[in-house]
Amino acid sequence: MTGLRITPLHPSLGAEVADVDLGRPLDEPTRHELNRTLAEHLALVFRNQSLTPAQYLAAASIFGPPMEQHYSQHNMPDHPLIGMIWHRNGQQPAEQWHTDHTNRERPPAATILYGVEIPSAGGGTSVASMRAAYLALPEAERRRLEGLTSFNGLDGHADTRPEDREKYGKPVEHPMVRTHPVHGSRAVYFHISKATHISGMTPEASRAYMKELLDRMIKPEIVYHHAWRTGDVLVIDDRATMHRAHGDYDRRQSRVLWRIIVEGDRPRLT
Ligand SMILES: [Fe+2]
Repeated sequence: MTGLRITPLHPSLGAEVADVDLGRPLDEPTRHELNRTLAEHLALVFRNQSLTPAQYLAAASIFGPPMEQHYSQHNMPDHPLIGMIWHRNGQQPAEQWHTDHTNRERPPAATILYGVEIPSAGGGTSVASMRAAYLALPEAERRRLEGLTSFNGLDGHADTRPEDREKYGKPVEHPMVRTHPVHGSRAVYFHISKATHISGMTPEASRAYMKELLDRMIKPEIVYHHAWRTGDVLVIDDRATMHRAHGDYDRRQSRVLWRIIVEGDRPRLT
């Protein structure tokens, strides 16, 4: 027994984990239980955390080894495995539904966000269960998607550094339905702006199909909306969800999230 107190936040996904100080080392049973809980609930919220970059990196490693982020211009100078999400430095909120870093052979198991500066209203993060989205599709479309793969690269932000383009821009193929390595369930998996195309389809037809899928699949009943409080840590299971940011806040206020991604398995459909 690890004594974790888990409270679901939404009928479809998301749970708050109480009484855990991520600034302290956690024992192995607790780490194991947190990974199992993430696989089940797909988004975990830890409130009132107070973490140095080093403590945050140690906490994130519960869910896998922190991996390099490809827009390295936004990395924290002294801790390059932490990316800074801060729109006042010219970044655009990622408002399109997506999962992270699909241009890697072993894309992240999880994206971890720490709320350092939070605007007084708006600026939330939404997370959708692509496990629930998969189950809601008609049988024939599930079969169709199970036979498709997407080819992924960088999504072409104008300020991408040449070295990042060189390291992370090569095409990587992933199944459009993947089996969760811990939970065993299937989920729809793609990134509309990182996928150059779907197997056997033109880029235009691929994009139109992905857009239409997103419009059809992502409904309020499969979305947990996280309204940030300073000190929140949000862990998102990238293997079975998509997420998006909301830019609906007063841009004179600062919104700073520290992001860590942790490496997962190569996506497979089994
Ligand atoms: Fe993201």
